[in-house]
Amino acid sequence: MAALALLAGADALAAEPIAKRAEACFACHGAGGHSQTALTPSIAAQPAFFTVAQLFLFRDNRRGKTPTPMYEIAKGMSNEDLRAYADYFAKLAPPPVPAPAPDAARFARGRAVAQQHHCASCHNPDFTGREQMPRLANQREDYLLKSMRDYKSGARVGYSRGMEETLVPLADADLADVAHFLAHFPAPQKPR
Ligand code: HEC
Ligand code: HEC
Repeated sequence: MAALALLAGADALAAEPIAKRAEACFACHGAGGHSQTALTPSIAAQPAFFTVAQLFLFRDNRRGKTPTPMYEIAKGMSNEDLRAYADYFAKLAPPPVPAPAPDAARFARGRAVAQQHHCASCHNPDFTGREQMPRLANQREDYLLKSMRDYKSGARVGYSRGMEETLVPLADADLADVAHFLAHFPAPQKPR
């Protein structure tokens, strides 16, 4: 664990083990990184590259204009902190498939939107994500919808332009259906 070894030399606050420091994140992102908080994403089982990139954007105040506590939280993080949080959360078990069954019609419409716009070509056929592309499977539906609306309005700025361009032809009803589909997608429950 190179990131942990590097942490040993950091300041006193950072000297605590990452599992202990991550408990501060659980307050909003849920125990084990499975969010129970409205409009707040689950961050467990995200590709480490994605989490590093997002924390980097927050730290540099480059993730757009969405008001969020993350700007303040990421401000003092070192590069080693970014990597340590990202590696830690990447290895946690993914959020479960939500218990209530999806609305069959909306699920089917959402799947058609995802197929038509090749979401899986970047986010993986099972929507578990890779590299800088986030896991979408079993993410909170409200957060999926919010983040897509934010890309469309320009309130969220991505690490790359891929999402803004992908979402141009999608209507708001398409975003809602594809969020419903992804939140309920029966993804494999294995850790990364
Ligand atoms: C006070 C609540 C709060 C705390 C504490 C908090 N977060 Fe967040 N975090 C949020 C919210 C809200 C968002 C969604 C921002 C938005 O709407 O774009 C977010 C977004 C993120 C994202 C982007 C994920 C994605 O899928 O877009 C990452 C990564 C993240 N937080 C990591 C962390 C880490 C690591 C910690 C602990 C060091 C932490 N957060 C602590 C509230 C919090
Ligand atoms: C060209 C590759 C590409 C395609 C195609 C693509 N995405 Fe993305 N997507 C990305 C990348 C890269 C990010 C992270 C961007 C950033 O830094 O904010 C992302 C982020 C997201 C997020 C934010 C999730 C989070 O946790 O913050 C959602 C939601 C999303 N994509 C949904 C979709 C949907 C739905 C489709 C199909 C309609 C799609 N994507 C197609 C590359 C792609």
